[in-house]
Amino acid sequence: MVRITPKSKVIVLTGAGISAESGIGTFRAANGLWENHNVQDIASPEGFKRNPCLVWQFYKKRWLQSQEAMPNPAHFALVKLEQYLGDGFRLITQNVDGLHSRAGSSRVWEIHGSLNRCYCTNCGVSAAMQDIDLTQDIPLCPKCGSSLRPDIVWFGEIPYFLFEIEGAIKQCDYFIIVGTSGVVYPAAGFVLTASLMGAKTIALNLDEPDNIGFIDTFYQGKSGEILPALIEEWIKP
Ligand code: OAD
Ligand code: ZN
Repeated sequence: MVRITPKSKVIVLTGAGISAESGIGTFRAANGLWENHNVQDIASPEGFKRNPCLVWQFYKKRWLQSQEAMPNPAHFALVKLEQYLGDGFRLITQNVDGLHSRAGSSRVWEIHGSLNRCYCTNCGVSAAMQDIDLTQDIPLCPKCGSSLRPDIVWFGEIPYFLFEIEGAIKQCDYFIIVGTSGVVYPAAGFVLTASLMGAKTIALNLDEPDNIGFIDTFYQGKSGEILPALIEEWIKP
């Protein structure tokens, strides 16, 4: 029985599945985002070093695609849950599409970075994608002229906000995962830690996630179709 009150502390972790109904393909589906590309070529620092042009081509395309996509009912349902819980709510997303923020979520940790930003490989200055001249094969830093790179956490790099997440997991009553296959660590391990620390764990996914062993309650289906009603049910007085 899930019963979320205004005093509950809730963490939601989302993955590519929550944006599927917004038209953004998931990673591991047959027609996923890695299509025709070796993951190491487009999502690793080594790949970027070998062929920055190809990497930029890939992320420019993904950025444009994310700009055209619209948040779906699952994104909006999480905005509602945040409004209900205030500071008791934290959203951790592995997605880089920015759809949670565009829907209106504000307590969001984008642990794998964001398509909306890039940064300089030399001086580290950060720039908004919309301010960059994307007609350049490899966009250059407005400050020092070196290559910019997408602000995406690639394989072999350390996700953002791990320290904050560890603190939040220790205190949470519910840890809910939505639309993630549970195969990419460390994110896939958060639910395990939450469970060991005493939180109730919930998953909502189209298929059984890999870390199902640490899930107390599993709902199978599309998040845009079932999450809004579930949240209504969980917060019902
Ligand atoms: P995956 O593509 O691995 O998994 C997406 C999950 O969403 C699958 O388990 C699907 O069953 C499920 N799914 C698909 N459509 C759905 C829907 N409408 N509603 C609910 N669930 C649905 O994506 P992630 O788990 O997010 O990392 O992948 C994790 C990380 O792997 C990504 O952040 C990315 C990738 O490497 C980086 O880019 C660093
Ligand atoms: Zn620079």
